Amino acid sequence: MSVVAATAEFIVTIDGPAGTGKSTVAYRLARRLGLEFLDTGAMYRAAALRALELGIDPADGERVAALVRDLEIRFDWRCDPPDLLVDGESVGDRIRTQEVTRAVSAVASNPIVRAAMVEAQREIASLHPRLVTEGRDQGSVVFPDAHVRIYLDARPEIRARRRVEQLAAKGIVTCEAEVLAQILERDRSDSTRRDGPLVCPRGADVVDTSDVDIDDVIDRLESIVRERAGAALRNAHRAQSDGGSLGGDGATAP
Ligand code: DC
Repeated sequence: MSVVAATAEFIVTIDGPAGTGKSTVAYRLARRLGLEFLDTGAMYRAAALRALELGIDPADGERVAALVRDLEIRFDWRCDPPDLLVDGESVGDRIRTQEVTRAVSAVASNPIVRAAMVEAQREIASLHPRLVTEGRDQGSVVFPDAHVRIYLDARPEIRARRRVEQLAAKGIVTCEAEVLAQILERDRSDSTRRDGPLVCPRGADVVDTSDVDIDDVIDRLESIVRERAGAALRNAHRAQSDGGSLGGDGATAP
């Protein structure tokens, strides 16, 4: 049996900017390791979608905060990947439109929204403790003691091209230069906001996906996870036989 399968709790965080392939990579890694998958960007997108539907300006901090306080965001874990429900209704691909993409940065930089999302994500992890969770702040803020913290990166031009191809596969035609400009703006806004900025988490493994095939990225992440899980397990055994506490980098005993 693999070391990951042997652990009751196991959190892998995957952070990084837009267009690094995070969602696909996180989902496929989760399946390969037998873990559940959490897309935290979808939660921010859901809040942005609901603001747009209600005619609320995404930059109107007070109204967006009031909206999120009353919003019920949850996942249907029987679906694969889990289906996002907002006030009980499945949002599907409506959270992936260009309009929502344009609105979401303002919503995600709202501190009240972030506090609500962080709390919701920790609650999800307490109910689903074997999880690959992806976003911008998962390893730095939400789960700083996760067993494995990964930071995915890629050159902006590559990320823009991937986004265009992703949208094209869904029948959405976009201009690459416009998508690149949007990505650069989103990077700027995600990494300069005061609350939960996009940063490389402490002790994270950094993987650049620019020139690497997605299958190879997943292989690489799988070997990182297995290495780290093995080390955590060995630390726990050593601590047990020494009669002492857990050593190492603060990873929880599996
Ligand atoms: O990964 P994505 O494109 O679906 O993310 C949508 C937006 O939400 C993007 O502006 C970054 C933001 N986000 C965030 O601030 N924190 C997260 N944990 C996940 C996403």
